Amino acid sequence: MTPAPARLLLRDLAQLATPAGTGAPLRGSALGDVEVLEDAYVLCAGDAIEAVGRMRDLPALDGIVRELDCRGLCAIPGLVDCHTHAAFGGDRVDEFSLRAGGASYEELHAAGGGILSTVRATRSAGEAGLLAAVELHRSWMLREGTTTFEAKSGYGLDRDTELASLRAIREAGGIPTWLGAHAVPPEFTAADAYLDFALAEVLPEAARLAEAADVFLERGAFDAAQARRYLEACRDAGLALRLHGDQFTESGAIPLAVELAARSVDHLEATGDDGIRMLAASDVVGVLLPASALFLDRPLPPARALVDAGAAVALATDFNPGSAFCESLPLVCSLAATQLHLSPAEALAACTVNAAHVVGRGRGVEGEGRGEGTHGLVLERLVDPRPRRLHLEPELVHALRVLVQLGQVGGLALGR
Ligand code: NIG
Ligand code: FE
Repeated sequence: MTPAPARLLLRDLAQLATPAGTGAPLRGSALGDVEVLEDAYVLCAGDAIEAVGRMRDLPALDGIVRELDCRGLCAIPGLVDCHTHAAFGGDRVDEFSLRAGGASYEELHAAGGGILSTVRATRSAGEAGLLAAVELHRSWMLREGTTTFEAKSGYGLDRDTELASLRAIREAGGIPTWLGAHAVPPEFTAADAYLDFALAEVLPEAARLAEAADVFLERGAFDAAQARRYLEACRDAGLALRLHGDQFTESGAIPLAVELAARSVDHLEATGDDGIRMLAASDVVGVLLPASALFLDRPLPPARALVDAGAAVALATDFNPGSAFCESLPLVCSLAATQLHLSPAEALAACTVNAAHVVGRGRGVEGEGRGEGTHGLVLERLVDPRPRRLHLEPELVHALRVLVQLGQVGGLALGR
């Protein structure tokens, strides 16, 4: 007989705040619709939430139940980072200085630096080194309340390193995305020749390791025809589809994402009114990455206009060594409030429920047994979910107190 899972009771919570509904990504006014239960409990059993309710309705519990006194605390779902590039070697410290001196991200990329310099470091890291890197980055994310993370390959761009990256992400507990079309590696002169190789030699095994495929559709990377070819092949191999699009130019990412029923199109800093309308009329989630826009001194994505037009949006860090060396979703939430003009409640939904849908962990979208949206709870000092001004220094970071990882109730990770 299998032993009953360990149970943990979070008792006397001042609030339990959860974005409403999980059947589909939240959009429009529903995005800010946070349900708040006061004087609440959460009963965790193993890696699942068994029950939630008001303290006054707490039934008598049989068996061994650990208890955590949560007076003065607010519980929110564990955060879901749906867009990271956590599998990389080396760093981009020199590039950071060059950019501070005026060099642009695109110029550095065109000169063989940028992404390609991380490709060199990642190829020489070895699989054990890559696993150590993803585990380190995961530990940073966890400290910030991220209990579910997606991570992309895309810094190998050869067979061995791409597959090693995907294995490392899986082994570290991440949700792997094959970003086989991130850049054209130096051993190929033409993007199409590289795609011939990647689709023939890497895709068959990548499709077994990854859950989704992603492409950097941009001037200087892959054009719309190349992105279409890559994505259609990946879709036929069973992968869900994502796109990096409209980061610097509108090059056809949104129409392609809509046509191919991609899960998301990410970045959107260059998206104009037509793109906003098209995305809003579709089921594709727009993933906003404000840390990356600020890090590169680029315009911010039209977040408010997207939400007001009815688009489903998610928030993510874009954690990577070049354009966004930032693993903190609480910081991203704070930027969302101060720079993107989303309310704190909208930001919370965007990096929990909606982000879960982007990675196929939203309830009810991927069929039974594909996960329950989030894998933990973050307990904070009481956070009032009504719209209010956040300090640029993120209130959520200061508020983060205790991280409960479901399935690890024997070992609570204590926050700062
Ligand atoms: O999402 N824009 C493409 N890819 C990443 C950055 C990768 C890098 O600079 O290393 C992004 O910003
Ligand atoms: Fe990215």
